[in-house]
Amino acid sequence: MGVNLSGRSFLTLLDFSREEIEYLLQLSADFKALKRTGTPHRYLEGKNIVLLFEKTSTRTRCAFEVGGMDLGMGVTYLDPGSSQMGKKESIEDTARVLGRMYDGIEYRGFEQEKVEELAAKAGVPVWNGLTTEFHPTQALADILTMREEFGADLHGRKLVFMGQVGNTADSLLVICSKLGIDFVQCGPQGDIEGNRTYRPWIWEKCQEIAKETGAHLSVTEDIDEAVDGADAIYTDVWVGMGQPDDLWKLRISQLEPYRVTADVMRKANPDAIFLHCLPSFHDTNTTVGAEIAEKFGVSEMEVSDEVFESKQSRVFQEAENRMHTIKAVMYATLK
Ligand code: CP
Repeated sequence: MGVNLSGRSFLTLLDFSREEIEYLLQLSADFKALKRTGTPHRYLEGKNIVLLFEKTSTRTRCAFEVGGMDLGMGVTYLDPGSSQMGKKESIEDTARVLGRMYDGIEYRGFEQEKVEELAAKAGVPVWNGLTTEFHPTQALADILTMREEFGADLHGRKLVFMGQVGNTADSLLVICSKLGIDFVQCGPQGDIEGNRTYRPWIWEKCQEIAKETGAHLSVTEDIDEAVDGADAIYTDVWVGMGQPDDLWKLRISQLEPYRVTADVMRKANPDAIFLHCLPSFHDTNTTVGAEIAEKFGVSEMEVSDEVFESKQSRVFQEAENRMHTIKAVMYATLK
């Protein structure tokens, strides 16, 4: 029997089998081809979705909006200031209201428990648009980008995440373990101030999955060891959404050695690509970038401008792929 995700929520990739993830990736590629050729695909006409954002967004919001509209759906966006959720109305009540009006609900916010609770009570598919713990739609787009570069069978390919563990690194660990992709997180390890490493439960769970798929999962502080034989080098901002600004000083001191520079890229495979979920601090052309430069004398952070703008960089292709993969998730779960 083929894969059927109809009626399922998309909360973490841990809930999906290798076959289901491969199905979503192929569906994303198919949707990308339809979009590229201008072929209409309003397969979900008559349905409506709501997007709940408790944090800011460019890519995720636009991917859900354009993806939803391409599929023929009505789309409502609720920003942090324009719903009652969390302030005057519990998640549970919000879910029960929205589930009666909409066919699907996207949520971006804080704790994973919130999106889990929404899904438990809404009675319609709920999609995780980023929580403190996971960013599963991002990981799908990242792997679609790798497939476009290296082919659909990524087994044995190597992805290196440079920097500290957060929701993006969590979801990359999960998807790599599921698909048999070797994964290395390279950054400060151990119990040092402000540092987050993999929580034991997720690390152990992914190692268990990796035993079945053949993925090699590791963490290291050693950059040379990490990037040797790498097919993709990935990084993310040093201070994430919802984290206090006073973390910058600490993070710069801890993570500066792990900036993705041309020298780091040279140590990877010659055809290695650079990936980043975006937004990125690769120059001082943003308010935050300019403030950090003035305060700490650092004009580029997690990635050098040279690498960001290089031929190896696939960051805008990856950003576009957010839309194709999110469209695939919505279609697969709503059809
Ligand atoms: N990568 C990502 O989630 O981007 P946004 O914060 O702009 O949605």
